[in-house]
Amino acid sequence: MKAIILAGGRGTRLKPLTNTMAKQLLPVANKPILFYVLEQIREAGLTEIGIIISPETGHWIKEAVGNGSKWKAQITYILQPEPLGLAHAVKTARDFLSDSPFLMFLGDNLIEGGIKGFVEEFNSFHPDALILLKEVPDPRLFGVAELDASGRVMHLVEKPKEPKSNLALVGIYLFTPEIHQAIAQIKPSWRGELEITDAIQKLLEMGREVRSHILKGWWLDTGKKDDLLEANRVVLDDYLKRDIKGEVDSQSQIVGRVEVRRGTKVESSIIRGPASIAEDCGIRNSFIGPFTSIGAGTIIEGSSIEHSVILESSHILKIERLADSVIGRSTEVIKQEQGFKALRLFIGDDARVEL
Ligand code: TTP
Repeated sequence: MKAIILAGGRGTRLKPLTNTMAKQLLPVANKPILFYVLEQIREAGLTEIGIIISPETGHWIKEAVGNGSKWKAQITYILQPEPLGLAHAVKTARDFLSDSPFLMFLGDNLIEGGIKGFVEEFNSFHPDALILLKEVPDPRLFGVAELDASGRVMHLVEKPKEPKSNLALVGIYLFTPEIHQAIAQIKPSWRGELEITDAIQKLLEMGREVRSHILKGWWLDTGKKDDLLEANRVVLDDYLKRDIKGEVDSQSQIVGRVEVRRGTKVESSIIRGPASIAEDCGIRNSFIGPFTSIGAGTIIEGSSIEHSVILESSHILKIERLADSVIGRSTEVIKQEQGFKALRLFIGDDARVEL
């Protein structure tokens, strides 16, 4: 069985961060989300992996993943010239996939417990598709599945105005090559995309078996700012272990599950876990609260931060209380104390500031 990871797309909802990086490389607990995806695929025993990339962000993905030797995987990069939908991405990968059954994993999604069990389920029951479903509060934002009383998939609709169930399609699918016949028969949706939901619905209409599995554990989709914060919170909460490799002075206190990586200096500060501080940071006279990740080379001085993701090489100075924030790379957030309290801003396109 082969695997494809979808790491193209526009990333519109995560602008301005996605102006200068691929959204699949955004860090969750100081590790790119794509790396968790690669680990989960390898854990399931799959080694032949195709990564769908876009012309805009593909070079960053290639630089980060390389030839895949870090994961003992064989990586093939597949360029999708335009983000014309998830089913279009499968079409683009047709040569790579050949007539192999395959796993399709959205590069910004993650599920609790990995995918090994689903690959095994697919291999023992031989359906034409195995889809994962998750109960969500607002199904109108997702592909939605309707099941009959025995749990069989009856019907699938992409972003329905009036959903018939609260079961959303999770971004992880298993297919036999039959899906290519289904994709060949669908038309672009109103938003101009070839929808994988429509292709699976077509499989049903072709009389093929579509098996479903309702997920009990968490499902993370890091497509928007609050989703990224939530992913960071969940992963820190579930996976982080206490590990102090940096220097912590005697005036500082590290409470609970906190990671302080090599080269980081913590002076006169309190860090309360779960929190991750990457390499070569400086934390001085500050409080770092739970569910916070600080990227490599960032300096935090005289500030208090919680439930936030701060990327690399930024500088946070004298900010009394920073919360629920995502801050990009090489960014300065500084409070000037003298003079009038004017706000002096130098902010890129698509940014959002709440005061
Ligand atoms: P989405 O988050 O649905 O799409 P997007 O990245 O274009 O985001 P936005 O709506 O904010 O503009 O895509 C899910 C995943 O699939 C993500 O990792 C990007 C990837 N993808 C492709 O590789 N090709 C595509 O044609 C599309 C639509 C998405």
